[in-house]
Amino acid sequence: MRNKANILIIDDEEAIRDSFSQVLKREGYGAKAAKDGKEGLKFFKQDFFHVVLLDLKLPGPDGMEILRRIKEENPETPVIIVTGFATIESAVEAMKLGAFDYLAKPCSPQELRFIVKKALDSRKVFFENIYLREELRKKTEFDMVIGKSKAMEKVLDIVRRVSPSESTVLITGESGTGKELLAREIHNHSPRKNAPFVVVDCGALVETLFESELFGHVKGSFTGAYETKHGRFEVANGGTLFLDEISNIGLNIQAKLLRVIQEREVTRIGSTKPIKVDVRILAATSENLADLVRKEKFREDLFYRLSVVPVHLPLLRERKEDIPFLVDHFLQKYNKRARKSINSVSPAVKKALMDYDWPGNIRELENTIERAVVLSKGDEIGLEDLVYHGISASAPLFHSVGKKYKPLDEIEMEYIKTVLQAQHGNKSKAAKILGIDRKTLLTKVKKYTIQ
Ligand SMILES: Nc1ncnc2c1ncn2[C@@H]1O[C@H](COP(=O)(O)OP(=O)(O)OP(=O)(O)O)[C@@H](O)[C@H]1O
Ligand SMILES: [Mg+2]
Repeated sequence: MRNKANILIIDDEEAIRDSFSQVLKREGYGAKAAKDGKEGLKFFKQDFFHVVLLDLKLPGPDGMEILRRIKEENPETPVIIVTGFATIESAVEAMKLGAFDYLAKPCSPQELRFIVKKALDSRKVFFENIYLREELRKKTEFDMVIGKSKAMEKVLDIVRRVSPSESTVLITGESGTGKELLAREIHNHSPRKNAPFVVVDCGALVETLFESELFGHVKGSFTGAYETKHGRFEVANGGTLFLDEISNIGLNIQAKLLRVIQEREVTRIGSTKPIKVDVRILAATSENLADLVRKEKFREDLFYRLSVVPVHLPLLRERKEDIPFLVDHFLQKYNKRARKSINSVSPAVKKALMDYDWPGNIRELENTIERAVVLSKGDEIGLEDLVYHGISASAPLFHSVGKKYKPLDEIEMEYIKTVLQAQHGNKSKAAKILGIDRKTLLTKVKKYTIQ
């Protein structure tokens, strides 16, 4: 795959187009040539190119203009300027616009090969940097587990005690309750903290691919195995492997996983040579694993191996005392990202956040605050910034919009909608809250054609 990079040449001189194409194709690259800027942009939009070789002096839109357009569309694509009149000024201007480097015509095949290779390497570094920045961001921002409630204090107490050990931990909890964050926390407070923390999403891949993802494979072991691949167990060596949504793995892989955990060695698909691995396992699930064991969808022996220390994360609505602290935490986090300084939420917002029952748990709260920070125009979050149906729909209900007041019918409809949504569509519960009987509610739902 490495040599299959695709290069776009934009030059009005046929001789240059031909010689460049030849040199690049001989190197094993793909090359496509455009005779002017218009055609170049057309190709650039149609196809994917790793590097662009661009002549500055072109008929129609000139090189500078093309460079600008390419950088707008794909800022990570290195553009090498090729020009016959290599004046310093145009070079400097092109570099300011984000050109990668400069090649003066006439140039030798070696020069061309060298500069293209350099550009391709720079792409790699660019993406590696994104990855590193992302990791760094996670390290600095995700570091904090907020939990002042009794329920969370219990959880954090277990975490403190279990982190330094080698024990396998099974983290359970509904979506958005913080399972991954907790797993990172355990890793970060373990003696393995300077080694990798590797996440495997067990629900993401079909079984065969998943097996190779976990254990690796050797070249040619199945169709599509072009190169030998290290499995996640090998990547996590010395560190922690986090098996997320563990309930999703099939019985076949469960058996293999169990063996790896017991023997502490993996065998790549297509190989017979076992490789020693030293990995601590953390697992998470939003399902009831014990239930799956009863239904024979999950191996009992693996279940016991994984749940040496079980940790359960409570729903957010079961620990509402944490909400104000979480709100503060997320305000700071998203202020920083949005370069804003919103320090507080209005009392009405505070109440709305406490009253809501957060089916999406902390992730939903985090998203709500993120959106509010982005939307907010002042230095305090107001109800109008909570564009979340469950919370805010009821709030502006009684306000006039402009100078116009809403008719009663409309308010009734909106209010019924809000309550129904908050009760996840449960009509009996909604009717009870609204103080009407179920039948009346059904009539009104029909009248207003509420979904
Ligand atoms: N106690 C907490 N303190 C601060 N932030 C938290 C806390 N719990 C969760 N978060 C944040 O909420 C978001 C969701 O958490 P996380 O991804 O760990 O949940 P999850 O249980 O793995 O969810 P899912 O099942 O949807 O994958 C993350 O951005 C996380 O940083
Ligand atoms: Mg998760």
